[in-house]
Formats: sequence, C-alpha cells, structure tokens
Amino acid sequence: SNAAVPARLLPVAELHLHIEGTLQPELIFALAERNGITLPYADLDELRQRYEFTDLQSFLDLYYANMAVLQTEEDFAAMTHAYLERAAAAGVRHAEIMLDPQAHLSRGISLETCVNGVASVLATSMEDFGMSTMLIAAFLRDLPEESALEVLDALLAMDAPIGAIGLDSAEVGNPPAKFERLYAKAREAGLRLTAHAGEEGPASYVVEALDVLGVERIDHGIRCMDDTDLVERLVDERIPLTVCPLSNVRLRTVDTLADHPLPAMLAAGLNVSVNSDDPAYFGGYVDDNFAQLEAVFELSEFDKARLAANSIHSSFASEERKAELL
Ligand code: HPA
Ligand code: ZN
Repeated sequence: SNAAVPARLLPVAELHLHIEGTLQPELIFALAERNGITLPYADLDELRQRYEFTDLQSFLDLYYANMAVLQTEEDFAAMTHAYLERAAAAGVRHAEIMLDPQAHLSRGISLETCVNGVASVLATSMEDFGMSTMLIAAFLRDLPEESALEVLDALLAMDAPIGAIGLDSAEVGNPPAKFERLYAKAREAGLRLTAHAGEEGPASYVVEALDVLGVERIDHGIRCMDDTDLVERLVDERIPLTVCPLSNVRLRTVDTLADHPLPAMLAAGLNVSVNSDDPAYFGGYVDDNFAQLEAVFELSEFDKARLAANSIHSSFASEERKAELL
C-alpha cells in the first residue's frame, strides 16, 4: 500500500532499542554541564575515540559510565525526546523502548525519576510524532535475580506504565534460567515477555529463553544459526528475532556487515526485523541500518517489505494499531 514511499521510509516498528543507548555525545556533554558533572573526557573528540569496542562488555563499560550525566527527570525526558524525533525521521511508527532501571538505581537515581522522565515523553508520542510507543523494563542479567524481583515489585507498586519486561547486559555466564521467577511474576502481572539471547551467548540460551522464561520474542538471536533444529523450531513457531546488524558489527559478534547472517536468516524463513539497539554507540538508527544493509547485500524490495512487515507483526501493539501500520 506504500509502494511510492522510499524503502527506508517504509513504516517500521523498532522493537530493540535501549533508551540509554540513544544518548549522543553532544547530549552527554550538555547534560554534564547542566548537572555540574566532570566527565573523564576533555572534549567530544576524546569521547568519540572511546567508541571502538572489542566485545559486548567493552561497550557496556562506556554505556554505564556515560549514564552518570542522567540525573533528573528532565534529563531522561530530553534523551527520550531526541530519540523519538530522530526515529520518526527514520520511518519508525511504533517503538518499544527498553529502560534499564537498575543501572540508575545503583547510582542513587530513583525509579520515579528514570521511569517518569521517559514515560512523560512517551505519553504524547502519538500526538508529537505519530508514533505509538511502549516502555519495556529491562533487567540486568549480571545482577542477582533478587534485585530484579525487587525492582519489578517496585515498578508494579508504583503502577509504572510498562508493557513488557526484557533481559539485557552481560550475556555469557548469565543464562536465561537464572530469571525463571522474574518472568513468571511478570507474566502473572500481565506483562509481555522478551529477552536478549544468542547475541554473544550460545544457541542454547535461545532455547532456554523460550522454554524456561516463556518469552514471546528473542532480542538478537543470531547465534540460533549454529543450531539447525532451533532454526526449524523458530520458523515453525514464527518466533520474532529483533536483529541489530550495526550493533553486531561494532561489538565484533560478526567480522563485517558482509558476514552478517541476516540474509541467511531471511532465506531460512525466520521472522527477523531490523533494529538499532544503541544507535548513539553503534553508528546508526534504523534507517542507517537499512541503508548499510542495502549497500552490502542485494536486498530485494520484497525482502525490505518483509523486514518492515515482520517488525510490525512482531510488535506488542494492538491488532488495531498493527492494521493501521501494515
Ligand atoms: N546487549 C546486551 N545488553 C545491552 C545491549 C546489548 O546490545 N545494549 C544495552 N544493553
Ligand atoms: Zn540490546
């Protein structure tokens, strides 16, 4: 129905996006100044030199360190507004946005400050940007499950406007099964369920996320390609995989974009979508991910339309909203 619209502006849903990963270097410096925080970098160039990662952990170290500039509700709101504006320009019409509450609580920032700062901007995303949104509370898998359970309880007690939970941070050594009780509690509370699995961790973590946590969607999931039985199952069950090509290149999960398994995943019939993960850190938003994919692979119009449709079908939006976007 949108044949005349350039491919990169096909209406898409962004399903894998960490709001803290949208904090641009310029905003980091602006917020540091506003909050009287001394950064360990003299200027933008020195900060930008740190954006060369060797693996997931090397990125996480910078990602958590830069959060120091997020102090007030207004700071969280400014970051969120900047993302919505940029994502709308990329053709994003529905966004499911992860927030890492534990990464703020551990710095002495209250749940109200971080949740309300982000949620206040999401509340008017439809009017302001024509974009429907959902907030996902993501839990840090390198912390104990008890911490996650306490934070989920607090989110439910404050009636936080979250629609789903996710699981992120250091994957290897922190398998999904560690969070069985968390996911059971979230399901009981009526929340939708997703989890990072198979980014750096093995295909077996994807199986565990499905079987032990009961997730409806897998974030990343690219390592499923190591297990043909798992691929067959993911195809049969139409499990969405929220793939982040530029992220995988920057975190050295794949050597180059040309080595990325996305075309093979499409060819296998997997339900994959294209997402930006942490766009301020990985060199681009959803439109940049599509543009770089197109520069390297011969994605057909059909493939691009399928990736866009997959993102909408795989979202937690209402059936009415999905129908509007398809
Ligand atoms: N992987 C795991 N945890 C994360 C990521 C990621 O790409 N981004 C922010 N937290
Ligand atoms: Zn992620």
